Amino acid sequence: MVFSRCIVAGGHGAEVSLLGPLCVTPIRQKSGIGSALVREGLAREKADGSSACVVLGDPGYYGRFGFEAGHRITPPYPLPAGWSAAWQGLSLQGADNVPDGQLEVPWPWRQEAYWSA
Ligand SMILES: CC(C)(COP(=O)(O)OP(=O)(O)OC[C@H]1O[C@@H](n2cnc3c(N)ncnc32)[C@H](O)[C@@H]1OP(=O)(O)O)[C@@H](O)C(=O)NCCC(=O)NCCS
Repeated sequence: MVFSRCIVAGGHGAEVSLLGPLCVTPIRQKSGIGSALVREGLAREKADGSSACVVLGDPGYYGRFGFEAGHRITPPYPLPAGWSAAWQGLSLQGADNVPDGQLEVPWPWRQEAYWSA
């Protein structure tokens, strides 16, 4: 599991966490490891001052942690049609502190193909 610290264009330097990739080895799946990793990771990102966490993933999984589509942070690249429900966010310091704008990702994530396949 990886959290990458990002900023939001026009967000006055507010930091946001990008969650992913997240993976549990197949023989250990469905034993609570993924949920424990996400919950502990979110708690650490919150304690470190991140204003929100965003993820591109299955809403059927991330919804259980409170992630929702339709938040104010837009993805760094246009997503394919039909993926809007997969782009989800969760406020960590209160909804009023979530910046409004486009996510600026660190260089490893600046490859448009990662956001379209
Ligand atoms: C997704 C993943 C990290 C979950 O890890 P895990 O340790 O198995 O998760 P947990 O044990 O905490 O939770 C298992 C629950 O999540 C559900 N789940 C797993 N993947 C899901 C998905 N893509 N959509 C909806 N639910 C999913 C399981 O059905 C199970 O449901 P239940 O609690 O009702 O039985 C793991 O399945 C995985 O590594 N998958 C392959 C990589 C991947 O898809 N990563 C996410 C990319 S967005």
